[in-house]
Formats: sequence, C-alpha cells, structure tokens
Amino acid sequence: MPSVLYARSDLHWTKRTYARHRRRAEHSESGMNQYLNAAVGAAREAGELLRKYFSGPLKVNVEEAHDIKLELDVRSQELITNLLLKEFPDHAILGEEGSEENTSTEFEWVIDPIDGTVNYFYGIPHFCISIALRERGEIIVGVIYDPMRDELWSAVRGEKAYLNGRVIEVSKHTELAQAVVSVGMSKTLDEVEIGLSIFKDLLHKARKCRMMGSAALDLAYVATGRYDAYIERSVNWWDIAAGVLLVECAGGKLAIEPSKVIEGKLSVIGWNGIIARDLLTKVYP
Ligand code: IPD
Ligand code: CA
Ligand code: CA
Repeated sequence: MPSVLYARSDLHWTKRTYARHRRRAEHSESGMNQYLNAAVGAAREAGELLRKYFSGPLKVNVEEAHDIKLELDVRSQELITNLLLKEFPDHAILGEEGSEENTSTEFEWVIDPIDGTVNYFYGIPHFCISIALRERGEIIVGVIYDPMRDELWSAVRGEKAYLNGRVIEVSKHTELAQAVVSVGMSKTLDEVEIGLSIFKDLLHKARKCRMMGSAALDLAYVATGRYDAYIERSVNWWDIAAGVLLVECAGGKLAIEPSKVIEGKLSVIGWNGIIARDLLTKVYP
C-alpha cells in the first residue's frame, strides 16, 4: 500500500478529506504500479507452479461431463491469494476456487488461478492465469499470463494495453467476413447448445471460428488483434475481468449483460469495436 497522506499535524482533517487524499495516494502512479507489480508477480509465480506440474500426474478433485477441477486449481489460487493478501491484507478476493469477502474495502482481486483447466489436464498448452483488481466494481488492473508461451498481458485503466512490454491494439478488420471469431461454450448442456448455435451461424459468415478453451486468453487474443471477436453466453467475472480491461485499453469494445442461459452468470462479447455489433449478436438468445 502506498504511504498514506495522514500525519500527526493533519489530525484536524475530516474523515472525508482523509479518504479523498488516501484515494488519491492509491491512484497515484506508484500506487497503481504497486497493484500492477503485485498482480504480475503473483501471475508469474503461479505460472511457474503450472509449468512445473504440466504433463505430470494430477489430482482430480471433481470430474463432470464437460468439466474437470484439479487440486492444482486450488493450490494456484492459494498461492496467488497469499501473495496478494500479504501485500494488501485488507483487500477482498473473488476467485473461482473461493472468495474472501471484506465489506470495509473498496478493492477486490478477481482471480482465475487456471483458466483452461481441461486443456491443462489433457496436456494441451493453452491455458493461463487471470488476475484483475476492481475498485468499487470498476476494473483498474488486469494481468493475464500464459506460462507455456511466456506471454504476459497487462493493462491499467486509462493507459495502453501491453504484451510482454509491447503496446498492443485490436485488429483493424471491418467486415465479419475477414474476422476470426472465438466462441466459448462453457460447461453445461444448455450452454453448449447456445454456443453451438452461435458457432454454426458464424462459421458461415466469418473467415474462421475457433473454440480454444480459455475465455481469458480469448479476450487477450482480441486485445492483441489475433482474434477479431470473442463471444460466450455464460461466463463468470473471474473468466473475463482482466481480459475485459485488456480489450478496452487496446481500443476494443465489450458488451456484457446478465446471461440468459444461467442466472447469475454473464454474457460477453469482446471485439475490435469496428465490425458491426449486430452482426455478432443478432440471432442469439
Ligand atoms: C472455462 C474456460 C472456457 C470457457 C468456460 C470457462 P475454466 O474456465 O475459460 O474456455 O468456455 O466458460 O468456465 O473452468 O477452465 O477456468
Ligand atoms: Ca475460467
Ligand atoms: Ca479456472
């Protein structure tokens, strides 16, 4: 936490003044850098853990028709959470593998410790760690790390998006016919059915459709201009929070609404902001 602007001589300050100055300190460049560095450090450490156990024997905690949960999902989240809370003990955590609420803070880390667990389990090197920080609900920092390709994406609200230190931008394609679109299908039968109908429709209209199994990397790829759009009708905040900020900072657009497939989840479209949005949305529930 950056040093707070509150000293003995300032004791006459009202609580509101104190809060305003504290917020300004936290928003200062060094404050934001501290958040960003913490997220990058935690993502890299978790990445090391995932690289170490990749392709090795893995303990499965839960196995479902279209999903797998590993002991390593939990270990990765514990590692990330411990690192972040060590530095920011009063911050809250919203993670796929568990949350730590704290009503007295405005800061919440949103963590997916392995996005693409099924890929990871089957030895497919396409998965990542996704870490975002929200302040009063607004995403202010986003980091996604693909440990197999050593690709690290980062963004701070109001600034540019980066991949391994290089500025990235969304694609310039104007037509759906030129576009590569990634469609996520999530996990349950209903989600898969919707995903399939979107995929089938876009397969005829876009240059190519893809389904690679990591929502966070889908958004990172949109931010990098590798994909032109990503659509999924049923995701959670931990799947997309960091990627949403990357796409925004890379000049793209997002359409996020409550999911009509599963209550409490989200429907998301992230795209270059140039291709007409209704071409990406019009036929789907
Ligand atoms: C899943 C992946 C997948 C997406 C699902 C997510 P997980 O996350 O991002 O691509 O289609 O909606 O739940 O379970 O691997 O963390
Ligand atoms: Ca996920
Ligand atoms: Ca996950």
